[in-house]
Amino acid sequence: DPLFDTAFLRQRIRTVADWPSPGIQFRDITPLLQDPRAFRLLVEAFVLRYMNAGIDLVAGIDARGFILGSVVAHQLNRGFIPVRKKGKLPFATVAEEYELEYGNATVEIHTDAVAAGQRVLLIDDLIATGGTMMAAARLLQRLEATVVEAAAIVDLPELGGSKLLKDAGLPVFTVCDFA
Ligand code: PRP
Ligand code: ADE
Repeated sequence: DPLFDTAFLRQRIRTVADWPSPGIQFRDITPLLQDPRAFRLLVEAFVLRYMNAGIDLVAGIDARGFILGSVVAHQLNRGFIPVRKKGKLPFATVAEEYELEYGNATVEIHTDAVAAGQRVLLIDDLIATGGTMMAAARLLQRLEATVVEAAAIVDLPELGGSKLLKDAGLPVFTVCDFA
């Protein structure tokens, strides 16, 4: 049983039909972020879950994963790693290509973003096919970090991403799901 009101958060996620392309039901977190009580409840849920989990760093995924990820890192008193889309990071990088619900992309992190053995919490807004989270987890694992959990606000279970991640041995936490 969740320790917080997941319905309060879920009802603040807006569905936009046929965006960014026909047939996609876009789950928009901006109304949740806009409501200070909902944003605070969301952050508190994550902080309570991870405050005693031995997290060294929080990694957030470009761009919507930065919003929640950086606040959670700050509240946990831990550093933040931006997992960025290709071509944005200035220093030496490692890269992973992946496919998502509506295209494909590459994510990168700096080679000195984590030290071997560090425990990293990976945060994004949403898990669809799981391709983005999987690519980000692989980047961290290539630098010999441990990904403690892949956490997001929304899961789209019918797209199979959360199952894919769990089957790959990566624990997954999401606040709510949409069929
Ligand atoms: C969205 C979302 C996740 C990803 C989930 O990001 O924020 O990062 O897709 O899809 P997946 O599970 O199928 O990989 P998007 O690539 O649209 O970028 P944005 O954050 O810049 O909007
Ligand atoms: N990223 C991938 N699929 C998505 C969806 N249906 N809504 C919001 N973000 C997404």
